[in-house]
Amino acid sequence: MRQILRLSPVLFALLAAACATPTPRPDAGSPAQASSGPSAMVAAANPLAVEAGVKVLKAGGSAVDAAVAVQAVLGLVEPQSSGLGGGAFMTYYDAATKKVTAYNGREKAPAGATPDMFLNAEGKPLTYPEAVLSGRSTGVPGAVAMLSLAQREHGKLAWKDLFGDAERLADEGFVVSPRLADMASSTRAPQASAPDAVAYFSKPDGTRIQAGEVLKNPAYAATVRKIAAEGPKALLEGPIAEAIVARLHDDPRPGSMTLADLKAYEPKAGPALCRPYRVYVVCVPPAPSGGPAVLEGLGLLEHTDIAAHGPDTAEGWYLFAEASRLMYADRDRYMGDPDFVEVPTEGLLDPAYLKARATLIGPTAGPAPAPGNPKGAGPRGPDATKEPGGTTHFVIVDKAGNVVSMTTTVESIFGSGRMVGGFFLNNQLTDFSWTPVEKDGVPAANAVAANKRPRSSMAPAVVLDRQGRFVAGVGSPGGTSILGYNLKGLVAILDWKMPVKEALALPNLVARGSVYGTELDKMPPAVVEGLAAKGVKLINGAGAEGSGLHAIKATPNGLEGGADPRREGVAIGF
Ligand code: DON
Repeated sequence: MRQILRLSPVLFALLAAACATPTPRPDAGSPAQASSGPSAMVAAANPLAVEAGVKVLKAGGSAVDAAVAVQAVLGLVEPQSSGLGGGAFMTYYDAATKKVTAYNGREKAPAGATPDMFLNAEGKPLTYPEAVLSGRSTGVPGAVAMLSLAQREHGKLAWKDLFGDAERLADEGFVVSPRLADMASSTRAPQASAPDAVAYFSKPDGTRIQAGEVLKNPAYAATVRKIAAEGPKALLEGPIAEAIVARLHDDPRPGSMTLADLKAYEPKAGPALCRPYRVYVVCVPPAPSGGPAVLEGLGLLEHTDIAAHGPDTAEGWYLFAEASRLMYADRDRYMGDPDFVEVPTEGLLDPAYLKARATLIGPTAGPAPAPGNPKGAGPRGPDATKEPGGTTHFVIVDKAGNVVSMTTTVESIFGSGRMVGGFFLNNQLTDFSWTPVEKDGVPAANAVAANKRPRSSMAPAVVLDRQGRFVAGVGSPGGTSILGYNLKGLVAILDWKMPVKEALALPNLVARGSVYGTELDKMPPAVVEGLAAKGVKLINGAGAEGSGLHAIKATPNGLEGGADPRREGVAIGF
């Protein structure tokens, strides 16, 4: 796998040479060049979490220090999306060395996990609620261990001092947001009716908590105090670990997690996967994240003139949609945990492969594209992976110009619906393919295996210029739609040169197989008609409605941030 350890000037020159379409210098500056505007910023899905991050930055903390505080508060105030019981990927840019590191806090399957654990006694896949609410859906949580590793390497403040806001808000109570209240009463999410969620979100009169009301979580406060004092050991060993194991062995459908599984968890860190895109370099975490797929999407678009066709044109969205379909076809076939299966990242991102595959974007849309045949690809069956639910993305830039782009998740809304220590346990293992082999016996890259990490769509991106200076941090939740959301955010910021807020607010278009999902009320009618004339029939929804994009971009006037208007976030800089 070609990875970049240090984005040296020499390497940038090489990347520049490899770049297919020479274009002028990017319309962006680095924070160091900022004159008047903000030079530090937090963009996240909840204002309380943003405040906690800004406070840490103002106290002299680094972007990673702030990430710890933001995650600790998000786990409390946005528990439908991420938390102490979940996992994450973080892409980290170090301003001093220009090095981009990928941190992998993805959950791991326990040693007792088996390829058939999401099948019933008749060998048929469990129903969605059966699988999610089971004790088998939870992987060993990795977000806190990952943050601890990153904070040891890039923190400036003491770990123990990063949890003050989370502890206070849990002890004293926080104002419940409309989105949390809606999900706590949701009949769509089976987890909201699970006993732990019902107990947590019910008031003494038996009704559910409403938006604007105050919710306390003393158990969460106790957990963060313990994590502040002991680090990730507080979760992965001792009484909280014992409580996790006990809760996962409860009916219905107990799981196999043991104390040894929890204790053995190790986050990973390594060079981010970086590829040139026009005058930029885009960095993401390697597999099993969604990063390689997003890079493939960009690599295909690089062979188009999408920059010349803006978001008000059918041609622009047509090119976007067709590249997306080719990207999804490959990723659905080939992505899995590279520790367990051969993932052909190098082949998928090979310039010759991308060039040939981009020729499949014809003048009009054809049937659903088949996966390609990149170098290093073994035979792979189409898998049966399902990914609905909750997740969140945030971006942080500190005064020194270091950047965190982190997507973090408990998988679905409130994870498995089971709670320990005031937080929800993830259902991340339902991100595995539910069927290990297809009818013809061909193995799925994303089949369940002991100690394996499930495939993810999360793809926190950091964009640099060819001198290795920060240009933008972008990412989104949204299950498999993340790839389409991130691609839209990147194209809108880099190619369409839109201000961040407008870029994130653009309609989503998620094109996968023969389905083109969008937000019809936001798409200009002329685009809808123009696309129809090219054989693209847009339908409303179909996975296009749930983005939660957050981004920060460097401009000559300082940082410019944005929060997806579809969620409750803000971007605050100073
Ligand atoms: O890792 C993944 O790709 C999924 N577990 C993410 C789920 C998600 O983004 C749901 N979002 N709203």
